Amino acid sequence: MSEVRFDGQVAVVTGAGGGLGREHAHLLAARGARVLVNDTGGHPDGSGKGSSKRAEAVVAEIEADGGVAAANAESVATPEGGRAIVEQALDLWGRVDVLVNNAGIAGGGPFHEIPPEEVEAMLRVHVLGAYNVGAAAWAAMLEQGYGRVVNTSSNSVFGMPGTSHYITAKAAIIGLTRALSMERAGHDLKVNAVMPMAYTRLTAQLPSKRFKGWLQDHYGPERVSPFVAFLASKQAPCSGELFTVGGGRVARVFLGVAPGYTAADPSPEVYRDHWEEIMSPSGYAIPADSEEEIALYSGEIRWRGGDSPDPSREH
Ligand code: NAI
Repeated sequence: MSEVRFDGQVAVVTGAGGGLGREHAHLLAARGARVLVNDTGGHPDGSGKGSSKRAEAVVAEIEADGGVAAANAESVATPEGGRAIVEQALDLWGRVDVLVNNAGIAGGGPFHEIPPEEVEAMLRVHVLGAYNVGAAAWAAMLEQGYGRVVNTSSNSVFGMPGTSHYITAKAAIIGLTRALSMERAGHDLKVNAVMPMAYTRLTAQLPSKRFKGWLQDHYGPERVSPFVAFLASKQAPCSGELFTVGGGRVARVFLGVAPGYTAADPSPEVYRDHWEEIMSPSGYAIPADSEEEIALYSGEIRWRGGDSPDPSREH
């Protein structure tokens, strides 16, 4: 069986000074990539004085293992930071084949009590971070005609109390992944996202000791990175997809749409009376894009005037 390798390739991993990013960086380097290890340092909530020490420590580890890496301490949260991260990789090694958008912070509080500056900081690091580094890397990837982007969402998107700004940011990452996967312009560019689950300094803050112990025993970050590396490789089989990944398990997470119920004569009462059909997931479809979602139900709607959209449209 051929090995998944990155010889001759360059990878940028953001937030790689610890936790999941550090493992991603190690694995990519061990498989032959030259890796730019980006990390601002600082506390898990993004506060504190940044330092390049976290990134430098990981570079030293990779070099000690015989790999090639360089440290970068720019913040992903600004457009200048994003550009500087990608420019360093380009200056050093001339290309960017892989971008793992992993940098992240955590925080919490009741929805109405989270200070606006914390909401903004959260969106800046996660959403704009993926944009800032992503846009700079995307330009290089388009020019090369090749690239792989792995974004980091979170299974908190399924619902979790007390961290609305984090979940909002992580949901936006799914939208960005879908959007970018449609902008490949005929090149071999693939963009996917993971919802990782691992014991790191972020999850070490969770209140339940029992849950933390279980995570620590079974959910090491090294059990997430192999799948991230696969998505980051030439052999990645998909684009625009989302996966939940943890403890060695990987599963597809998708946006599906059920057949629903079409009212001939819409009224609040009609929908009340057909609630079961509206809610039933049975017979769901997974549209490849927004047009396909429209085409799925347009055949059921009597089109008033003009040509109706063709539900059998080919993709
Ligand atoms: P971590 O705190 O160990 O790693 C995050 C890294 O990002 C830190 O080293 C931090 O210094 C760095 N960072 C923060 N702001 C930055 C910025 N502006 N620019 C550059 N670097 C910055 O935490 P962990 O768990 O490894 O998290 C990695 C990613 O995985 C995050 O995006 C997180 O939200 C996500 N995630 C983690 C889960 C888990 O189970 N550990 C669950 C779901 C998502």
